[in-house]
Amino acid sequence: MQHVPDSPIALQYQSGFGNEFATEAREGALPQGRNSPQRAPLGLYAEVLSGTAFTAPRHENRRTWFYRLRPSAMHGPFQRLETSHLITGPFQQHLTSPNRERWNPIPLPSAPTDFVDGLFTIAGSGDPASQTGLAVHVYCANRSMQQRYFMVSDGELLIIPQEGKLLIFTETGRLSIAPGEICVIPRGMKFKVDVLDATARGYVCENYGQMLRLPELGPIGSNGLANARDFLAPVAAFEEDLGPCTLINKFMGGLWSTTLSASPLDAVAWHGNLTAYKYDLARFMVINTVSFDHCDPSIFTVLTSPSGQAGTANVDFVIFPPRWVVAEDTFRPPWFHRNTMSEFMGLVRGVYDAKAEGFLPGGMSLHNAMSAHGPDVTTFNGASNAQLQPHKIDGTLAFMLESRYVFHPTTYAMHSPQRQPNYDAVWNGFQIHHTH
Ligand SMILES: [Fe+2]
Repeated sequence: MQHVPDSPIALQYQSGFGNEFATEAREGALPQGRNSPQRAPLGLYAEVLSGTAFTAPRHENRRTWFYRLRPSAMHGPFQRLETSHLITGPFQQHLTSPNRERWNPIPLPSAPTDFVDGLFTIAGSGDPASQTGLAVHVYCANRSMQQRYFMVSDGELLIIPQEGKLLIFTETGRLSIAPGEICVIPRGMKFKVDVLDATARGYVCENYGQMLRLPELGPIGSNGLANARDFLAPVAAFEEDLGPCTLINKFMGGLWSTTLSASPLDAVAWHGNLTAYKYDLARFMVINTVSFDHCDPSIFTVLTSPSGQAGTANVDFVIFPPRWVVAEDTFRPPWFHRNTMSEFMGLVRGVYDAKAEGFLPGGMSLHNAMSAHGPDVTTFNGASNAQLQPHKIDGTLAFMLESRYVFHPTTYAMHSPQRQPNYDAVWNGFQIHHTH
């Protein structure tokens, strides 16, 4: 029988992005005035998790102090697990072509499958050892993780549900997320995923680069796009008396497993600014033109991982949410383009405005550097001849992971029956309209 946890409605959050939070699940568990007193309160163990180098600039520095039942160090050696569908760079499995690619949704499983077993790597770039690039996975699951826990030493996880609610129990507490929301789990933080509906599917960006952060707003000013106060961190919560369990550690691409005597989610209190967090994409304040032309999609950036070169992201997480479209004398869908940045797209719900059909919720598309793409013929003809009135694009939520690094599709993705072999055909049939 599937374990159904407490109603997520009861979950509590604290608001803010990168804030210095302090939270305790038992009164008096947080020490006052120092981080590591000679004896931590309530007999707990003090332990730090750092998300940045010690000497990272203050505004980028992330670390959290935990006060837990047992030190994380108390475990035996990890043993390597065989995996077939979860890949980490260097991504050289398959000859990467300049071709545009598109996939139908990966099918939901029929056999019992939890979040870890249901992860499939679609594409990636860079590698975690050099802390560059990212991987894109999908997850398809139908049961909660039972007596097993996961940590990803390779990168930070951005989880984007497409179907089904999840309850994610991390070292910093519990978060529930549903399609339309996202969750970020710091590199190396232990967690487990409960599937709250019969099935769950979604996307995961595993970011090997600098931690995701809010983009600069420039002339937009101090408000707009994703507002800091809409990011929610959990309050402290912990598990005890659940018995032996397995901890799976994704490290340098491989999955490694060790046995623990008890749940590793045993932090009774914590303070710091490194935490799992969630965000409701419906809170995103959309900025766009109110005169003419089509803005660059950077106006839709929710979070960004810089690469070290200004404005040239390791990865930008960009969304295409419901919004009013009002531009006059303008071809309103995305134009034809060839970009130096590479684009991986997914669709949470509805219809994406650059394609008439073929890009399905749960599906994916890949347009790597310099590949020519844009609207299909049906979309082009419709938008070129439409009577332009203000209208609302509604009931849709697409997203893009845009990176300076080329995405290398995996062998799994290229051989998947969900890969559409004739994607190029959507750009067939454009007529020459030129008149002399
Ligand atoms: Fe594009």
